[in-house]
Amino acid sequence: MLARKLKTSELDEENSQLAPMYGTRELCEPVPRYQLPQHGMPANAAYQIIHDELNLDGNPTLNLASFVTTWMEPEADKVMSESFGRNFIDADEYPQTTEIHNRCVNMLARLFHAHEQGDAVGCATVGSSEAIHLAGLALKWRWRKRRSSEGKPTDAPNIVFGANVQVCWEKFARYWDVEPRYVPLTRDRYVIGVDEAMELVDENTIGVVGILGSTYTGEFEPVSELNDALVELNAKHGWDVALHVDAASGGFVAPFLRPDLEWDFRLPTVHSINVSGHKYGLVYPGVGWVVWRSEEDLPDELIFHVNYLGGDQPTFSLNFSKGSGQILAQYYNFLRLGVEGYTDIMRGLEETASYLTKAVESVGRFEIMSKPGTLPLVCWRVAEGAERGARPYTVFDIAAHLRQRGWIVPAYTLAPNAQDIAVLRVVVREGFSRDLAGMLADDLKRTVEHLESQGPVHLGTSHARPGRPGLAAAARSRPRPKEDKTTRGVC
Ligand SMILES: Cc1ncc(COP(=O)(O)O)c(C=O)c1O
Repeated sequence: MLARKLKTSELDEENSQLAPMYGTRELCEPVPRYQLPQHGMPANAAYQIIHDELNLDGNPTLNLASFVTTWMEPEADKVMSESFGRNFIDADEYPQTTEIHNRCVNMLARLFHAHEQGDAVGCATVGSSEAIHLAGLALKWRWRKRRSSEGKPTDAPNIVFGANVQVCWEKFARYWDVEPRYVPLTRDRYVIGVDEAMELVDENTIGVVGILGSTYTGEFEPVSELNDALVELNAKHGWDVALHVDAASGGFVAPFLRPDLEWDFRLPTVHSINVSGHKYGLVYPGVGWVVWRSEEDLPDELIFHVNYLGGDQPTFSLNFSKGSGQILAQYYNFLRLGVEGYTDIMRGLEETASYLTKAVESVGRFEIMSKPGTLPLVCWRVAEGAERGARPYTVFDIAAHLRQRGWIVPAYTLAPNAQDIAVLRVVVREGFSRDLAGMLADDLKRTVEHLESQGPVHLGTSHARPGRPGLAAAARSRPRPKEDKTTRGVC
């Protein structure tokens, strides 16, 4: 998140100071809001100011927009709080933390069916975004090495993915100078099309991305079909284009709920996989993972060796220092839950999603866009023909009304060329019970009945913000939806 320094001319007496209201001595003086205070204050006072202000944030349990974990067991909290001061990069100083990290990589590589005799490698990242930058860089270097060895030009790399990719892929392409080639959606296909993707692949393609499950609708992309098509294309042209699987959410769902689905290292063209530990890995925000099929997929030039912390440390990351807590908490979940525990939890989430799906359907005004057997979420739209006609409301109005009850349910438009389809989405996470799902469905019904009784009064704002979840409008290079609306700024 970028923040701007306010100009002095923008500050007046009122907005430049915090004015805490307590009858204690330490909290009766104003505190500068945008300037480092000259004097400190007692710990309890600082705590109280922050605690009070955060009450204005949404309630994490009712935040149904996010895939990211909002609840962990108290013992996991303890593991994390005991390691707040442990910098993960200090491997020489904290060798057991490194060992635990390595065990997690091993467990994940096996979960993703890396070859038992193979030399898969991987590392923890801050989330799937960093993992994707690292995986993308490895693809680019691998492609360049091969091209150079053949005496061919290396100035125009491209990467192929569906227009439904999460914004981190667009960032990867822009930051690392790789041409993004988007497979557009259609009005009845909301993920990558295999044939359409293959048409975009050429000798300069560093990789093709398959998403297990789409951020927009939760749908699993046809990774196995992408693999088969790439095998054929590579054989035909003598290329070696790799497949990367963005399993940010599905990497902790498919292995437990659909173990027979082939989407991982069982497929020969899958060279790397990213997964978010902080999504269905069930860890608080701040951890992702990337695993490569083999050491060969991770060119040496990308690994830096440092000696100033003691010993020789190979590192591949975009940053240097970071906390260890989330990595240790991931290991806690692995020990605590095992395969059975994860399977039980994922099954429970799937059941809640299916319950909510039926409840949303029973309201009678909606069309369900999410599919069973994919991510445990519910994505729906106002039934075709109804949105701007008979029904005097849009999904943005519904989201704004639900927000008044505390529910944070995002409304957004799908990616090009399905951008005229606007949807609502509820991510079912641990902590979102069937009871809450029932209450949400009741509120949804009340909301549409209220909107219908009111006529066309729009609460959903129309000022320019993205139709894409989690995307800065300014960073877009592709055609944007004409009707660009969001749930932000509602009254
Ligand atoms: C498919 C997909 N890829 C990547 C990301 C980015 O993940 P993270 O938030 O872990 O950086 C997301 C986030 O929602 C996602 O859904």
